[in-house]
Amino acid sequence: MTVASAPGKVYLFGEHAVVYGEPAVPCAIERRARVTVERRDDDRVRVDADALTLSGFTVAWGGDAGETPELDVPTTLVEAAMGYIDGAVAQARDVAREAGATDPDAGLNIGIESEIPLGAGLGSSAAVVVAAIDAASRELGADLPREALADRAYRVEHEVQDGQASRADTFCSTMGGAVRVQGDDCRRLAGVGNLPFVVGYDGSAGDTGELVAGVRALREDHDFAADTVAAIGDIVREGETLLRGQETPLGELGELMDFNHGLLSALGVSARSLDAMVWAARESGAHGAKLTGAGGGGCIVALDDSAGARTALDYTPGCEEAFRAELDTDGVRRGP
Ligand code: MEV
Repeated sequence: MTVASAPGKVYLFGEHAVVYGEPAVPCAIERRARVTVERRDDDRVRVDADALTLSGFTVAWGGDAGETPELDVPTTLVEAAMGYIDGAVAQARDVAREAGATDPDAGLNIGIESEIPLGAGLGSSAAVVVAAIDAASRELGADLPREALADRAYRVEHEVQDGQASRADTFCSTMGGAVRVQGDDCRRLAGVGNLPFVVGYDGSAGDTGELVAGVRALREDHDFAADTVAAIGDIVREGETLLRGQETPLGELGELMDFNHGLLSALGVSARSLDAMVWAARESGAHGAKLTGAGGGGCIVALDDSAGARTALDYTPGCEEAFRAELDTDGVRRGP
């Protein structure tokens, strides 16, 4: 049996704009998806996932890959989750075939556990795909360097998200730490100091494909929306300069996060619950706060080195869970 785990992430800056070639800075956080893979004697693929949480439901299924289980959760999300797993298995078989493994089409039992809520802006799908490709390709007898793993995980996201995914989530989950992604140029940012993240989760999920398509339409219809996307790029560039300095200036980074949230709101991807959590965090002393990921619902991230934001979020109507999130510096791990 082979085990791999990979972290989720928050966006310090730059989601959505990264889809149009602007830079983004996602940061891996110490919340993981764990995947175990074991060869079977036949050629079937069985998936058991019993801890993918969505809006108070636990998505659990045991069945053949490719089957959509009947569950009391939005089918689009369940289908997407199955699509990611099918895609990861196909990539692992491809890796095994290229490496000359003896039986790249062997049947597999795949077990998935995740501490990352689905569709909530914390990179759950990227973490599952990265861990699944890594564990499945090793179980099939092939070993993949990290850069190639990140690339193959990106191809899966790109396909499931109808060609609208950036490399941000998959690269960040593979490499860990704070990373900079612009188009195909992905790198880890060295020497980033402590970033005291607090995450607030409203218990819901946004539809990434729909939200990305909405921004695309706005951008095509209005020059001011295109300018808004470009302005997010400017925020990211300024944020990067701050992160490269000797100190980590939390106040200035927070100010940029606030600005970034305002521009994402203007692009129509925030939600009442996200705005409420952002304001609660700011009013309780966070340096700054913004939504993270595609938006529409899900999570906000605040920069807060006091106990204020975390406590305030606990009492914010609409906030289902609030937690401190450490920066994960490992990325994908061979083991739990
Ligand atoms: C979703 O986690 C982030 C988006 O920028 C889409 C992407 O980068 O693939 C909205």
